[in-house]
Amino acid sequence: MLELKANSEDINTYSNFQEIVQKEVELDVSIDFDNKSMFGTVKTKYEIINQSLENIILDLHGPEISNVCLINEDYEKVDLDCIIYDKNKDKEALGTPLVINLLSLKEKDNKEYENVFNKKEIMISIEFKTNENCNGIQYLTKEQTRTKEYPFMFTQCEAILCRTLFPIQDTPSVKSIYKVKTSISPPLSFLFGGILKSHYYDSASKKKINCYEQNIPIPSYLVAFVAGELEYAKISKRCGVWTEKGLASLAAKEFIDAEKYIEIAENYLNHPYEWKVYNILVLPFSFPFGGMENPNLTFVTPALLAGDRSMSNVIGHEISHSWTGNLVTNKNWKNFWVNEGFTKFMERKLDKILLGEEMSKLESIVGNNSLISAIKMYGEDSYFTSLSPDFSGIDPDDGFSTVPYEKGYQFLCYLEERVGEDNFKEIMGKYIEKYKYKSVDWTDFKSVYEEYVNNKYEGRNARKILNVIDWNKWVTEKGFPSYKMEFKSKYTEEVDDLINKFINKDNIENAKKIFKEWHTNVKLVFLEKILKNLENFNESIILEIKKELNLVEEYNDDVKAIWYEITLEKGMKEEIENIMNFLKTHGRLKYLKPLYISWIKLDFNNAKTFFDENKIVYHPIARRIIQNKFDSMKK
Ligand code: BES
Ligand code: ZN
Repeated sequence: MLELKANSEDINTYSNFQEIVQKEVELDVSIDFDNKSMFGTVKTKYEIINQSLENIILDLHGPEISNVCLINEDYEKVDLDCIIYDKNKDKEALGTPLVINLLSLKEKDNKEYENVFNKKEIMISIEFKTNENCNGIQYLTKEQTRTKEYPFMFTQCEAILCRTLFPIQDTPSVKSIYKVKTSISPPLSFLFGGILKSHYYDSASKKKINCYEQNIPIPSYLVAFVAGELEYAKISKRCGVWTEKGLASLAAKEFIDAEKYIEIAENYLNHPYEWKVYNILVLPFSFPFGGMENPNLTFVTPALLAGDRSMSNVIGHEISHSWTGNLVTNKNWKNFWVNEGFTKFMERKLDKILLGEEMSKLESIVGNNSLISAIKMYGEDSYFTSLSPDFSGIDPDDGFSTVPYEKGYQFLCYLEERVGEDNFKEIMGKYIEKYKYKSVDWTDFKSVYEEYVNNKYEGRNARKILNVIDWNKWVTEKGFPSYKMEFKSKYTEEVDDLINKFINKDNIENAKKIFKEWHTNVKLVFLEKILKNLENFNESIILEIKKELNLVEEYNDDVKAIWYEITLEKGMKEEIENIMNFLKTHGRLKYLKPLYISWIKLDFNNAKTFFDENKIVYHPIARRIIQNKFDSMKK
């Protein structure tokens, strides 16, 4: 029996993509809400690279499969032998790969065998059916939706969950184009993240059929579906928003800046938005992230509907992924920072241009604070604090933190400082142009950077710039970056001033006025400062701050969440009621993680009872991550 090994170029896949590579994926999918199942056919065209190939190994984690066939030149189906490998306990997250035996064709003395290996391409068709334990899909009952009339479902494939939907080469090293047909009974809609080419009502099956194409090659983690009672509103010529019924026009107002973000990014990178359409999908609150850059259909949390566009940076971030991530893709999860660090960098560039330098600086300060907490939380010696963590045998989701975002961002700021803003802008543009449609690691960026500097400056001057940059150290070193970036804003002093005013009970009326006028980001810096220096605040000051600033009622969820964290960390139980309500209506991990961790430290048993009673509303990914916290923090 074949010994299965994770692929050395991407240890989170079993697929043998160096021997055979998937080029075109055709999906025909339907949903059975009663049985919580997505099912259909996946037909894949592969390019054969190794002519003596024996097996096709596909990632698979959960779905039932049947009818594994070769499709021959006459479009006839020829059965293929295959086996599903059992769960390997220490590599559980990688799933149970499907091994399709091509030699079996030969043994059966099938005429197709010679055919296959004389050609460069083969087509395989597989039927699949997911069950209710699929981690890549969340189903909501109709009671859990806005109108409470119809069920809802959505997928989340990043990082390695595409294999929980259907068998695939589930690695960002491989990019393919997609043709997707979805079927569903009206009035529900069933969307795919691609370009809608046609749609019709099939009277025989009484189903609404949508036909999508994704003609830009994408990695499997960008495959995305959603089904429910959806509504659409236009934002601009190429932008729009999908929501649960009844929210679309409100959402269109909140995301009015989408078009501007795209234009600014096009300008900065000197590269057009290639995906044509940019739609945003606002999910129910259980969506575990702020945003997910699914092509043509960015998924976002409804918490972004703050009413004041104060969370629009998330849109800037997901739009930026259209270049960094979706055109140029990290080739494995060890290089995750090449997706997220670059996108953070773009996000703050766009905010600098759209909202001004001060705003972008504040975001860097907030980001740097979160980097510091993450490194302290993991411990400076943990490999999760490096930009190239080792994910062998573990689910990359378990190593998810702000480190790749913020340390990656700081590294790029450092590289920008060495050559100046204008040169760096050009380097970024060249990088996109050179590596679009491809998958990369950080050394590919390094080569563009060095080539640019060598062309721009004479030998000695080029060397002067390049010699001081220790790429390896930045990328592999654990703990805090050894080069300290200065993130200062004119608000830093104002924040300190206000903190002193509260401590000294000095002119509170004036302090209130100042706070009210601040942008959300300044408020966050203020609250983070309190959180980091809790020993200087007694409970009564903290309660006073809450009362005076009316913290819970008025502000966006970022502000609320940090306020709740402050009270838990201080050991106060006054807010428990509010915190429980918050945790019942928020599924974003950015909030769940710190709040549960602080609550567990304060009162393990009550936190556990509450979690067990309410976890059903969370996404499977969030449920698993929070459950892990309980397990690891158990005394
Ligand atoms: N691609 C990520 C979300 C993600 C990462 C999902 C890893 C699954 C595994 C997305 O682009 C992202 O970074 N979202 C952030 C936005 C923030 C940085 C502005 C989020 O959800 O908080
Ligand atoms: Zn991102």
